[in-house]
Amino acid sequence: MITNTELEYKGDLYPTKIVDFKKEVDSVYFYTDNNVILKVTVLRDSLIRFRYTTKGYFSKDFSYAIDKKQSHGYNFLEVTEDINCYNIQTNKVICKVQKEDLRILITDLNGHSILEDELGFHWEESYHFGGNIVKMSKASKDGESFYGLGDKATQMNLKGKRVENFATDQYAFHKDQEPLYKVVPFYIGLQNNHSYGVFFDNTFKSTFDFCHERRNVTSFWAEGGEMNYYFIYGPQMQDVVTTYTHLTGKPELPPLWALGYHQCKWSYFPESKVKEVTSKFRELKIPCDAIYLDIDYMEGFRCFTWSKEYFPDPKRMVAELAEDGFKTIVIIDPGIKIDKDYWVYKEALEKDYFCKRADGPYMKGKVWPGECNFPDYTNPEVREWWADLFKELISDIGVKGVWNDMNEPAVMDVPGKTFPMDVRHDYDGNPCSHRKAHNIYGTQMARATYHGVKRFAYPKRPFVITRSAYSGAQRYTSSWTGDNVASWEHLWIANIQAQRMSISGMGFTGSDIGGFAEQPTGELYARWIQLGVFHPFCRTHSSGDHGDQEPWSFDEEVINITRKFVEMRYQLLPYLYTMFWEYINDGVPMLKPLVYYDQADHHTQYRNDEFIFGNQILVCPILEPNAMGRRMYLPSGNWYNYWTNELVAGKRELWVQTDFDQIPIFVKEGAIIPKYPIQQYVGELEFEEITLDVYFKNGKEKSVLYEDAQDGYDYNKGRFSLATFNLTGKDTELIIKQHKEGKFDTNYTNFKINFHGLPFKVKKIMIDKEQITISKASIATKSFIVDKNFTEIHIIGI
Ligand code: GLC
Repeated sequence: MITNTELEYKGDLYPTKIVDFKKEVDSVYFYTDNNVILKVTVLRDSLIRFRYTTKGYFSKDFSYAIDKKQSHGYNFLEVTEDINCYNIQTNKVICKVQKEDLRILITDLNGHSILEDELGFHWEESYHFGGNIVKMSKASKDGESFYGLGDKATQMNLKGKRVENFATDQYAFHKDQEPLYKVVPFYIGLQNNHSYGVFFDNTFKSTFDFCHERRNVTSFWAEGGEMNYYFIYGPQMQDVVTTYTHLTGKPELPPLWALGYHQCKWSYFPESKVKEVTSKFRELKIPCDAIYLDIDYMEGFRCFTWSKEYFPDPKRMVAELAEDGFKTIVIIDPGIKIDKDYWVYKEALEKDYFCKRADGPYMKGKVWPGECNFPDYTNPEVREWWADLFKELISDIGVKGVWNDMNEPAVMDVPGKTFPMDVRHDYDGNPCSHRKAHNIYGTQMARATYHGVKRFAYPKRPFVITRSAYSGAQRYTSSWTGDNVASWEHLWIANIQAQRMSISGMGFTGSDIGGFAEQPTGELYARWIQLGVFHPFCRTHSSGDHGDQEPWSFDEEVINITRKFVEMRYQLLPYLYTMFWEYINDGVPMLKPLVYYDQADHHTQYRNDEFIFGNQILVCPILEPNAMGRRMYLPSGNWYNYWTNELVAGKRELWVQTDFDQIPIFVKEGAIIPKYPIQQYVGELEFEEITLDVYFKNGKEKSVLYEDAQDGYDYNKGRFSLATFNLTGKDTELIIKQHKEGKFDTNYTNFKINFHGLPFKVKKIMIDKEQITISKASIATKSFIVDKNFTEIHIIGI
């Protein structure tokens, strides 16, 4: 019997020889004998776009991922021709286009091959849907490694893996499960110390195969749309990631409180329960800045309503929580209950804002409220309407952040767990089916939410978190990794997901600490908190099905560990905020996998666990029960053990002994780490001084401290304070020079300087060339107070 697929499959088609070419400003067009056009656009010397059509013309160019604000510009562009190829040369790379078959080879200026087509672009016509299944294959050299791809729950190095990009509500997913909630069709290749990136900007379901099917071939394909990808040259991984993040956009700074600790559960209700939880945090003195209301705060799960029974006066409650330093964050899902007496439903119906099936009926599906219709967030008018719906929540009630969930979009009790593929979308004036819009539905919802929250929170900064996301979503929202499980394996996954998201441009991410499904042991919870405080987004969340997951649900020891690590996060807030500032300015990922930190060191290429938090703190979580420490890899450089101050040389594997209330943490020699006093929430205390922990180095190291008003937009007008510390250490001398920029004057007046690892006895301290008297106490504790505006500290020792 002949199957459908056999009937449909007419075989792969390939471009034939180039018959014409034309250069237009930054683009070069190649025309083949069989109607294929390749448009090569040079956006930067190290960023080149490849766009193919098989129709003989290009359709309208549109992308949700690319940041319209990104700047272009190259220093050099020249096209030459030889017998076999056209050569497009920039200041960084040469792109050879083969005349015979349109295949591409990209080399650096020394002729070192970076990315080479195997079969190159090919396609299969789609009988069912029209258009093509578009395919690409690249030759992969031995020893090549692959990274990126967003939230994949698999080893850091994707070599040998095949992954699928189709946003999916994957409850209690497991290691290697595919696909997951997010779609980031961007990978980084690393071979022979050269990094490059490929961003396949295609929203259809796509697959990437990293030498899984064939040992020396990497390929990617999508079920529709265009072969449209960006090549990014390194040679350092940092160059690849920052260029990708520049292309798809950076967020604004979050309010500082959003970097505090968040507490969540499905669900805290009624009001008295919420208050019980928040009071307990204050009583136990575990810092916390945000409390979440999951779906039960609503009236019958109707978005933008409140249950009168559980929350009779939300405005008062939110204000009282705010008095105590808690910001209230509420969940909003996309499904709008079909209910003729429900105002949101009525409005959307009147305005015709719900998604429709191909033949006209509204898309109907079951979610928490029962049968729902779903706004088409790909329609700009719908996004505007949606944004306005937040007026009451934000302006009147005082909610500070919004949590968007189920936006893959998730539909219950149906095969595929989502919309049928015939559902229609506006796609910002490029009408299409759900096949094309599925992967960006969640991002467009989060985008509309972000605009709404921002509109009504202004002049304060908005906070939005989403479960589903496509490349570029980082411009609008933070994210979490979805419904994980309280298991040791999931702790391993969470660690990798946060690092992977970070180098995939979407750094403001965290996992449900402790696990969403099932119940963690106290030990697992403690180990998870110890890792979670080093993730940019830090929230405990659980399904609540199996008991409680507040720190006090566990024994005294776990409560103390939780407090200790959350306190550490609050002390490190200025360091974390500075990391965030580097991310929003330069696209630098906040968490750096070891391979990112030192790609030249082969040992880093398969490391999963250790990562650099910011630039100078190395964290290695403990991922097994009953551990008294662990084996780990310390990358190049010299590192101080955070707990013992012992200086350890890197580029080697070692055993690190730790107690239960510790994980291996190392500080780079020469680092100056800023710390705030412990507060129960951001802004609780006004302080006179902050601490600078100075880790001696015989040599030079630069550290940075970014601060501003911690909320609002004045930082865009220059009201920030950027301090650069240049440390130079010698045998019996240490010099710290401070350079300050920006118009913001911090509230505190002094720095308390703490020395770690000073190899000499202090004889004399000069501040701005004047000698200060040193008390015995400060010699003993190796610490002293200095005016925050110092320009030079000079320590002379014997
Ligand atoms: C989904 C979310 C989870 C939330 C639950 C109820 O499972 O992923 O975080 O608690 O829905 O809203």
